[in-house]
Amino acid sequence: MKQNPAHAVDLKDDTFRKLLPKFSDTSRDRLLRLLRDPGFSGQISASAVASLAKSEHKTVDKLMVKLLPLARRYSDSPISKFPVGAVARGASGDLYLGANIEFPGHSLGFSVHGEQSALSNAYMHSEQGVEAIAVTAAPCGHCRQFMKELSPESEFRILIAGNPATTLAALLPMAFGPKDLPGFKAPALPVREVDLVRPKEISDALTLAALDAARKSYAPHTGAHSGVAIGTQSGRIFKGAYIENAAYNPSLSPLQAALAALIVAGNPYSAISKVALVELNGAVISQKSVTEAALSEIAPDATLQIVTTKMAVY
Ligand code: THU
Ligand code: ZN
Repeated sequence: MKQNPAHAVDLKDDTFRKLLPKFSDTSRDRLLRLLRDPGFSGQISASAVASLAKSEHKTVDKLMVKLLPLARRYSDSPISKFPVGAVARGASGDLYLGANIEFPGHSLGFSVHGEQSALSNAYMHSEQGVEAIAVTAAPCGHCRQFMKELSPESEFRILIAGNPATTLAALLPMAFGPKDLPGFKAPALPVREVDLVRPKEISDALTLAALDAARKSYAPHTGAHSGVAIGTQSGRIFKGAYIENAAYNPSLSPLQAALAALIVAGNPYSAISKVALVELNGAVISQKSVTEAALSEIAPDATLQIVTTKMAVY
């Protein structure tokens, strides 16, 4: 069974100074104020980014790289002991933190990479697009494939600490992507809401949040829209939408996306009290078994409610 991760960032002034020694006191205080907000969700607004870039005398690209030690602190990597941090920049100018998550007792294939965490965070905040991502180490092939779905033209910029800026086109030549499959219509971003029926039995906030996440999900290859909402003991709700991939395996399940949101807000798994999964009735794939299996390892006492829905027909 999974022990509680000790990934929450220590927000004491001294420890924070050691984490980001190169930042000025003004910038560190600004960041601390953001991170101490109980509603913090791994997002740094464009206006806060502009102030930080100004007080640090840095471009936003450089600022993103400088923030990587902070993003990496959210990593929960007890198997590899290889923490990965990522910072994505949305079209709005907001930044999103992300870190890798591993699940002892479960399959390695369920791990969430730092890049996926930052990108799903941007996705869940309804970004219209992602322009760039900074990462502590070169993104693996799986992440490059995941990025391809968000940037089919591969113009996505990638900033690897200590290296010149590059693009997805350069890191993933001769790529296989969503356009190679028949019937492809649109990339994962901007998020497009699908019209899913609200089942009559849904009335509580958690299941409504899971329905909302399912409406935001991206499933152009199977049509199997799904969403998860995690409820914590303190009453917060974290949503995760399914983000499908043309190469199938790099798809991010709605539970993975919701866990990425939970982790980047600084919560341990022990905070999970209830989980809701909403998915399409009779779809060709289902998130039920993987959601049950992963939860039985990381939050065995949490209750899981599964609700099926259908597409609205007019
Ligand atoms: N990892 C990432 O987060 N991103 C990459 O692209 C490379 C690998 C993570 C996955 C796993 O948690 C650990 O690093 C070791 O592979
Ligand atoms: Zn990766």
